[in-house]
Amino acid sequence: MSNRNINILYYNTDIQSKDTVLNACIPIDINVSFTDSFQNLYEMIVSLDEIDLVFIDYNGEEEVLKIISSIHKYDEDLVIYVLSHITDDEEQIKIYSSGATEYLLLPVNSQVLQARLKNMAGLRDSRRKLNEEVESAVSVIKERELESLLLLGRTSEYKDRDTGSHILRVGRYSELIMEKLGGSKEDQELMLYAAPLHDVGKIGIPDSILNKNTKLTEEEYAVMKTHTIKGYNILSGTKSKYLDAGAIIALSHHEKYDGTGYPNALKGEDIPLYGRIVAIADVFDALISERVYKNSWTLEQTLDYIKSQSGTHFDPALTEVFLKNINEAEEIIKSLPPKL
Ligand SMILES: [Fe+2]
Ligand SMILES: [Fe+2]
Repeated sequence: MSNRNINILYYNTDIQSKDTVLNACIPIDINVSFTDSFQNLYEMIVSLDEIDLVFIDYNGEEEVLKIISSIHKYDEDLVIYVLSHITDDEEQIKIYSSGATEYLLLPVNSQVLQARLKNMAGLRDSRRKLNEEVESAVSVIKERELESLLLLGRTSEYKDRDTGSHILRVGRYSELIMEKLGGSKEDQELMLYAAPLHDVGKIGIPDSILNKNTKLTEEEYAVMKTHTIKGYNILSGTKSKYLDAGAIIALSHHEKYDGTGYPNALKGEDIPLYGRIVAIADVFDALISERVYKNSWTLEQTLDYIKSQSGTHFDPALTEVFLKNINEAEEIIKSLPPKL
């Protein structure tokens, strides 16, 4: 058992109990910080990561009850000891009901308090270790999930030859656009891993259509378009947020802002944001890369085209965000170069 990392924050108004707590904590290396203001107490709890236990002196103030419940709204695991001279049962019930862990009747013997704190420190230690183990297990599982997503994305690339690292770059541009839009870290990560799944439905398209060097006939094009619905059907209905987002992207990445896209001819903001983002990322990357049916375009030609499609094919606000940050998109190309 180690109690070296235990930190106590003490809202203290009583000199005698301050001494008792110090006498209990100093010999076993528990750190105690003191404050006599509720405002400070709350700010310190919110700003300091490593608070294990809060001590609060209580003399019947209503504010103490409020502060205990607000602490627990912030961190429901935080251990709160209330120290008081009040012996009244009703008062104790009120304190426990507000969420306090222990009600310590003063005067407390410092050796008894020390023994309690040692136990508490042991419990905190085991809990911390357990949390660390859970966190590392979760991160391994997440890593595996992300690997599987990449493999799934690669299956579409494998069918659609010559695309090189296209899906990885589409993931990175989409993440970039989400970041510049002010999206949360979680949303940015979602784009990074879900955007590469946009063409998974191509698994269901015959190679003769997918890799045809000449223009597709009307019938062939109609078959090609179904990769959106096929992708949605493959990816939807799981419990994975990445696959969920991937399903939305697969279905909507060929919709156009003016309503002339497929498969649902959605218009403007009826097209899911993820789909509107990937539409730009996908077309941008397809143009600057070499494909079976075309040579690569220069960056200038590509940007001219993207600009010309703002408001028709692409969401104008998102196009602006992307073009404003084109330097970062170029960095992505440099780090994951297409086959030229
Ligand atoms: Fe597609
Ligand atoms: Fe693509």
